[in-house]
Amino acid sequence: MSVTVRVPAKVNVQLAVGGARPDGFHDLANVFLAVGLHDEVTVRPAPSLTLTCSGPDAGQVPLDRTNLAARAAELLAARHGISPDVHIHIDKDIPVAGGMAGGSADGAGALLACDALWGLGSSREELLSICAELGSDVPFSLVGGAALGTGRGERLTELEVGGSFSWVFAVADGGLSTPAVYGEFDRLNEGVSVPDPVASPPLLDALRTGDVLALADAVSNDLQPAALSLRPSLADTLAVGTAAGALAALVSGSGPTTAFLVKDEDAAETVASALRASGTCRAARVAGAPAVGARVVAG
Ligand code: C5P
Repeated sequence: MSVTVRVPAKVNVQLAVGGARPDGFHDLANVFLAVGLHDEVTVRPAPSLTLTCSGPDAGQVPLDRTNLAARAAELLAARHGISPDVHIHIDKDIPVAGGMAGGSADGAGALLACDALWGLGSSREELLSICAELGSDVPFSLVGGAALGTGRGERLTELEVGGSFSWVFAVADGGLSTPAVYGEFDRLNEGVSVPDPVASPPLLDALRTGDVLALADAVSNDLQPAALSLRPSLADTLAVGTAAGALAALVSGSGPTTAFLVKDEDAAETVASALRASGTCRAARVAGAPAVGARVVAG
């Protein structure tokens, strides 16, 4: 007996970052869009909690209790007074440590899969509260579609999306640590009064109407200068995508994946080919948005 859950990656079409809070986190206005790159998480009963991972980048995935999938199983089991005796397998297609919420996706996926395997029937609210405990981006991995995240990004308001969008993602060599990028954001903004983060009305309108040109004009990422400061070569990748016709080019979340919004699927192939030929990234992936959130696909 096993349960498999499919979970999407995300891109932040707006990531507005406020000053550092006393708890070390930053208040955000974080507009998430789920994109069609997926991990699949399969759980089955086992003598104790164990984890395996497959996929081209499986070697970079921690297989101990720091993995959000393992922590999700432990948290859910603890809330129900049961033992987290499952084997979790992650079939990984989302770039690792890439700013696309791959680890968060595995946390949300394992949570939903274990809930089904153990027949717990947790409510959406219960699952979302465990997701928020696991990490700031995990609730969105469960919900999918598009949503505005406030607080540290975990308080979600779902957003209407009136169309579909084509994206290209350039996968960089190696990851970037999210805390390091936020730390660099703080260093770059030392002595500056950082305004409170606010969602952009033109951006929300562009999502609602499905207007790709308006969305391209409105995307922004306050973490981009910090990611570029830590990884200056990302500027070359952004320039290649822009020269190949991308309507917008930005760092995805805390990076180092870069994201290119394009007119349609043909333009996506053109931009992806240019990125692959440029040698400025390890891989280029085409994906549509919005994608649905975590859902059981087998079991
Ligand atoms: O919530 P999560 O565990 O994903 O956050 C990872 C790290 O990213 C935090 O420890 C913190 O350094 C940084 N972070 C932040 N403000 C946020 C979200 C994350 O400073 N809103």
